[in-house]
Amino acid sequence: MPASAKPREGFGPFLGPLFGPFGGGLSMGWPKLAGGLAVRLARMGRELRAAVTSRRAAGRDADVATRRPAGSVTLVGAGPGDPDLLTVAAVKALAAADVVLYDHLVGDGILDLAPAKAERICVGKRSGRHSLPQEEINTLIAAQALAGRRVVRLKGGDPMVFGRAGEEIDHLDALGIPVRVIPGITAALGCAASTGLSLTRRGVSRAVTFVTAHGRDGERFEPDWARLADPQGTLAIYMGREQARAVGQGLTGAGLCAETPVLAVENGCRPDERHHWTTLGAMAADGVAAGKGPTLLLVGEALRQRRQGSGAAYAVDDLGAGHHRGQRLDHD
Ligand SMILES: C[S@@+](CC[C@H](N)C(=O)[O-])C[C@H]1O[C@@H](n2cnc3c(N)ncnc32)[C@H](O)[C@@H]1O
Repeated sequence: MPASAKPREGFGPFLGPLFGPFGGGLSMGWPKLAGGLAVRLARMGRELRAAVTSRRAAGRDADVATRRPAGSVTLVGAGPGDPDLLTVAAVKALAAADVVLYDHLVGDGILDLAPAKAERICVGKRSGRHSLPQEEINTLIAAQALAGRRVVRLKGGDPMVFGRAGEEIDHLDALGIPVRVIPGITAALGCAASTGLSLTRRGVSRAVTFVTAHGRDGERFEPDWARLADPQGTLAIYMGREQARAVGQGLTGAGLCAETPVLAVENGCRPDERHHWTTLGAMAADGVAAGKGPTLLLVGEALRQRRQGSGAAYAVDDLGAGHHRGQRLDHD
């Protein structure tokens, strides 16, 4: 249903002023929301929540619960970058979308799977700008659904892995808006496939841990190193490039061997995928040589055989992804 359709009864007074100033401008990306508009969006969100609360307080819970919005929200995992790695369900959801709110990590070609007339709204970091604050993203998703639109919230990788899906689902639940989640291939599994690395190599690694190296806003990054330093496990470290030295120091300090192999996969599953091999000890001293693209750190003895198989010594270097593509990989 187009944005111009009548908003559903009950929330109408809030949707008119919410959509009025944006019009088609939203399709140009979130920077248009900056400044006064962003503040206004946050205020509208508060008003929307207040409206729901006051209706409940007036004893009309049943009314709110039974009169579901005509629109819907689907959180869709876009995978690590290659459109071929989308699920069939993701492709169908995109094809049916009226509006797509997407992150900066969504790979090229994936947005093209939405209809040409679908509105596309970038809510992620772009060109050095910060992402739209999470609260404003929540408000925007809800407002679009309450206007009767089929909303696709498109996230890189899997929505439920370091994707802030929990906050969006909580917000939609509180407003009684139905939400569905379509999983995507998370970066760790995409990178394992593109590099030919079994993360649970038999007899070597008995666990895989997905961990972020990013503290919450303003918080210091201080994981439980002793728990992570398992010589029989593989670590997949998200958002780790900037913290690579701290990761190396923390893990070696907690007892992991300095010769433990590390692979930083930059732009995994994309045409410009790059591999940067090092060891924990070298990473503790020098960090990783990865560039600006999204980078996943894989750490563990499960990587050793493949690295040895490539015939080079442990050192920081680059191997183009094309190197592996199309090759038959000998792994379990
Ligand atoms: C906010 S997290 C989002 C993770 C995402 N939900 C997932 O399941 O992959 C972003 C981090 O994921 C990792 N990442 C995402 N896409 C990647 C890719 N194509 N190659 C390497 N790492 C990637 C990077 O560590 C990046 O900093």
